[in-house]
Amino acid sequence: MNFPTTRLRRLRYNGIIRDLVSETQLTRNDLVMPLFVYPGTNVRNHIKSMPGNYQLSIDLLVEECKKIVDSGVKSILLFGIPETKDEHGHVACTTDGIVQRAIVAIKKEIKDINIIADICNCEYTTHGHCGTIIDNDVHNDLTLETLAKQALTFAQVGADMIAPSDMMDGRVAAIRQILDVNKFEKMPIMSYSAKYASGFYGPFRDAAESAPKFGNRNTYQMNPCNSDEAMREIEQDIYEGADIVMVKPALSYLDVIYRAKHEFNIPVAAYNVSGEFSMIKAAESMNWIDGARVMMEVLTSIKRAGADIILTYHAVDAANLLK
Ligand code: PBG
Repeated sequence: MNFPTTRLRRLRYNGIIRDLVSETQLTRNDLVMPLFVYPGTNVRNHIKSMPGNYQLSIDLLVEECKKIVDSGVKSILLFGIPETKDEHGHVACTTDGIVQRAIVAIKKEIKDINIIADICNCEYTTHGHCGTIIDNDVHNDLTLETLAKQALTFAQVGADMIAPSDMMDGRVAAIRQILDVNKFEKMPIMSYSAKYASGFYGPFRDAAESAPKFGNRNTYQMNPCNSDEAMREIEQDIYEGADIVMVKPALSYLDVIYRAKHEFNIPVAAYNVSGEFSMIKAAESMNWIDGARVMMEVLTSIKRAGADIILTYHAVDAANLLK
């Protein structure tokens, strides 16, 4: 391996050779587009902290989904902003909840689309926490009940995949059980297994109107210092029946994605979250970086680290560039 016998630049001389030896291929099949459903009709509220993303009423959401599918992105992840909220998130545990109605409407109009339902309570509770509050903290086991009910109603309205993002202990098992008892044994679960208490969720909380009204999420989301613990979370979720495990956020946790891929024989998803998206958009708007180029570099790095699936607000833009 000594210069001048070895010259690594030999395989970089032109684009064809570079493509020939390229180790990582980002494809449109890898991408999932998150969307926000809003009450009413003909509503299209621009989310200022996430340029190019909107809160959409169901009618416009269906039109948006047609464009997404045309771009080659076949999977979407839905979040809801409900008409009303309550203490426990019961508004999301009915088949006429806002996301449930959106799923019915999309499925009626679009055949080849994979709809992933995010399971959590933070968008649906008055206090903005991910579950039922007892003594100023989210009560784990009581929250499992609303999560399971919510998951069942999503299965009943035709969701294709269930994605719990709450970080309660035992939620994958609780959801798997209620699905199986109700004959949804074929429904896959993509678990947000290693979800960190991250500052990168700021813009999302504007979009989903889900910021906690008191305290923070540190008693249920993971400490950013830890990656051994992430492996334990993932192991536990696989044991409880998760079909896909997720690491979230992506960019500051590429080491966790890498470990997950190498330590477990299971598809790994990574969530390139709102703050990661918005940083690129902000720098691009200042002309400090080439936004499209940085977007592709970031997505490729997440794939290279080991993600099989990338949930990203860049999905449609990246798919259009990949055409
Ligand atoms: C919580 C949830 C969060 C995101 C998706 N679901 C984070 C949170 O508020 O704790 C963040 C996604 C993003 O930032 O893009 N159920």
